[in-house]
Amino acid sequence: MPLPVPVLPDGVDPAWLPPAAFEAIGRRRTLIRGSGLLVDTVHGEVAEACARFGGSVVRDASPEPCDLVLDVSGTDDGEAFTLKRAEGRTTVTASGRHGLLHGLFHLVRLGEEAFRGERAAHTHRPAVALRVLDHWDNVAVHPVMGQVERGYSGGSLFWRDGRARGDLERVRVYARLLAACGINAVTVNNVNVHATEARLLTERIGDVARIAEAFRPYGIRTHLSVSFAAPILLGGLDTADPLDHGVRRWWERATAEVYAAIPDFGGYLVKADSEGQPGPFAYGRSHADGANLLAAALAPYGGTVRWRAFVYDHRQDWRDRSTDRARAAYDHFVPLDGEFAANAVLQVKHGPMDFQVREPVSPLLGAMPGTRLAVEMQATQEYTGQQRHACWLGPMWSEALRFRPEGTDPVGGLSDGLVAVSNAGADPFWTGHPLAQSNLYTFGRLAWDPGADPLAILDDWIGLTFGPDPAEGVRAVLAGSWRTYEKYTAPLGVGFMVQPGHHYGPSVDGYEYSPWGTYHFADRDGIGVDRSVATGTGYAGQYAKPWAEVYESPASCPDELLLFFHHVPYGHVLHSGKTVIQHIYDTHFEGVEEVEEAREVWGSLGQSVDPERHARVTERFAEQLRCAREWRDQINSYFLRKSGVPDERGRALY
Ligand code: GCU
Repeated sequence: MPLPVPVLPDGVDPAWLPPAAFEAIGRRRTLIRGSGLLVDTVHGEVAEACARFGGSVVRDASPEPCDLVLDVSGTDDGEAFTLKRAEGRTTVTASGRHGLLHGLFHLVRLGEEAFRGERAAHTHRPAVALRVLDHWDNVAVHPVMGQVERGYSGGSLFWRDGRARGDLERVRVYARLLAACGINAVTVNNVNVHATEARLLTERIGDVARIAEAFRPYGIRTHLSVSFAAPILLGGLDTADPLDHGVRRWWERATAEVYAAIPDFGGYLVKADSEGQPGPFAYGRSHADGANLLAAALAPYGGTVRWRAFVYDHRQDWRDRSTDRARAAYDHFVPLDGEFAANAVLQVKHGPMDFQVREPVSPLLGAMPGTRLAVEMQATQEYTGQQRHACWLGPMWSEALRFRPEGTDPVGGLSDGLVAVSNAGADPFWTGHPLAQSNLYTFGRLAWDPGADPLAILDDWIGLTFGPDPAEGVRAVLAGSWRTYEKYTAPLGVGFMVQPGHHYGPSVDGYEYSPWGTYHFADRDGIGVDRSVATGTGYAGQYAKPWAEVYESPASCPDELLLFFHHVPYGHVLHSGKTVIQHIYDTHFEGVEEVEEAREVWGSLGQSVDPERHARVTERFAEQLRCAREWRDQINSYFLRKSGVPDERGRALY
């Protein structure tokens, strides 16, 4: 039976699946072979497209003349599919039902192209098995962080005021969008697990089961963030010690209940001993002990524990120059390599600090050959404009995924999972800034194929979302937007300089004397953090060669990371030929000019973009420009005052 396609609620943006995207399929005669829920989903999609565009679809019939065959031969969970076209017929074959679903959305992307000429058989399969969106959604509104921690898209799609939403149709629509870009798992609550959210694991598991049911028809498995202290908080035990027999029994029983409610449950996500969350350190146990406790409980059901490597001292003394937050994950976890269970995955932020606009790739990636790793990105733009600024992160993620630590595959290839902190919420455009949808889409596609060209993905997104007319303009606005953002914010990899707490807008010294380990050390002579082995914190030495050598010396360190690795005088000459101080002035002026240009290009698209979208983006550009000017003027004035070095070009500084 075809499963009805979820209905887009009134006023909600169709994002990259407008009806028109299905025209090529909807005009054809299609034969579907196979059985099971996901095949019913595919059937429903094709049937709806046919009802709209005049084609036809039959299921499990004898081969009559048809233009498209969607054929699943097996009943496994395999995600691969083979596409070919011969003798006027396009065929997608898959051995698993998930593969058929991915094949369908691949056809949607190709449009008419899928029905032209001949096509040799080509098998598509995801490079990374686990492609997850982590929602930092709270069930109850948190007094400081609100409904969604670092959420810039309205409320949560799942939760409202302490309970699961009653109507989950929008979650079904969301599941469909995610499947169409390759995502196959979702974590439905924040990594910071507060009191109400802790109970999702036990007495509130029914809420999670309802959400899992909404995701299931699109092949998306549900995961849960859990508190390491759950045995105490929920079970009334007096310890959460991972080696305690009672604790192990408690997790086994709790997990059995989870699987009774959600048979295809994906697994747990844990933030332990990090920014105040409980963890195994309290019992003198290692993080491998902690992760393996949950891994053991999940193993009988095929579940996975994702254990976050974001562990550092957030109560640092700024006077202490020997502690370096960037070193922390490596120092904590590399000694544990080889100790994690087979169904434990260590989830590592792509950079060593915290989702800044520019960071080196975490040295942990590549240094733990005996451990399964997942790379965590941040689609929610906490430090990259909070979805008020247009900032397409595709090139940044792609650079990280293509980075090749010595002697291993590129980061994308050595990952068992790719994870993004979601940027979606209850906002009618899903992502607050309509153009931030591009980040969600690009993440999914890069997770499927980390070696893909991000610009080609951007073009796919633009084509599906906007159609051909405004394509060139939208591309012009987004393609370079990450570098533009980098230009007008913290320079040369130094990071932060944001307002404390909410992290929006400039405050050069906002985190300079704080306990968070985020310093730039600017004085009258120079700026930057010395992380060399020779004279600094030694962080550069956490990389294997050649990177340890490349980063060790200012002479070989790439310009864009210079201040991450070195403290240099303002007169230091970059590879670009400019001094550091002149680079700061120039990039900040350029960044604002680029925002002005992008805003103009956007303004010219009024006739070819849907009016609501156009108006929302126009509004956001006004704010982006205001904020970019503020960044420019604060950063430039700050460094003029510190250094006393005037701008060579005599522009207005304050
Ligand atoms: C950042 C962010 C927090 C979040 C944390 C994490 O520090 O500001 O809100 O909890 O990352 O990734 O755990």
